Amino acid sequence: MTTTATTRFAPGSTAVRRDVTAALQLRWPRSPASPEPASTPAPGSSMTTGPNWLHPHWPTELSTSRLLLRPVETRDSELLRTLWTDPEVRRFLGGPVPTDRLAQRLTDAASQRGHFTVVLVQDGRGAGRVTLDRDQRAAGRAEVSYEFLPAYAGRGFAAEAVGAVLDWGAQAVPDHQLIAVTQAANTRSRRLLDRLGLLASERFAEYGQDQVLYTTGPSR
Ligand SMILES: CC(C)(COP(=O)(O)OP(=O)(O)OC[C@H]1O[C@@H](n2cnc3c(N)ncnc32)[C@H](O)[C@@H]1OP(=O)(O)O)[C@@H](O)C(=O)NCCC(=O)NCCS
Repeated sequence: MTTTATTRFAPGSTAVRRDVTAALQLRWPRSPASPEPASTPAPGSSMTTGPNWLHPHWPTELSTSRLLLRPVETRDSELLRTLWTDPEVRRFLGGPVPTDRLAQRLTDAASQRGHFTVVLVQDGRGAGRVTLDRDQRAAGRAEVSYEFLPAYAGRGFAAEAVGAVLDWGAQAVPDHQLIAVTQAANTRSRRLLDRLGLLASERFAEYGQDQVLYTTGPSR
């Protein structure tokens, strides 16, 4: 069942439609009976989302026990700049975003539907981002991508956030198959997807790298 509410959304007191599912809030953290949660990237280029992408489910906020996922805002520039220039974060994402492309990416960031900033409820700090875009490789597929600051690694934040976006995406775009694509060498990302119950379904070469395509399995 979907609970829909309207809330005030800082900054600027803009009214934003909130589309948080009761099921989602109950499911995080998952009950022991539920499958245990468990990645290259959309290297460089931003996805074309199309005029109707995620309509009428955007903008949306998602809540988990430790995290708030809210649409990217202009105040996230510093977080995004760090994520996009940190060699560790970008290791399997084609490397740091070149300086000449960075400014445009930052300018465009807040207008991308399906792009969430992940904020820690505890202190309001931004820890990373999770995105849901149409997969440009094939019609009827939506791709989840994610990047977190190394300072927040190894605490289950990524699993919690990506799991929430997958749960929401299944309801927001039920006519799309949810997928993730990660470099085969990106073991942390692959472990995350395994934990979330996704299945490694296909291997292919892209951007000169061996890639694994994960699909949502029967457990999600
Ligand atoms: C991919 C990426 C998000 C994975 O991050 P991560 O820190 O491994 O994932 P999580 O935040 O879910 O943390 C999982 C770890 O926290 C541990 N953990 C600790 N407390 C936990 C909790 N309360 N709940 C769940 N797990 C917890 C888990 O056991 C797991 O440990 P392990 O790595 O030893 O198996 C991160 O490496 C990253 O941002 N990489 C750069 C960007 C990238 O490559 N993205 C993929 C492109 S699509």
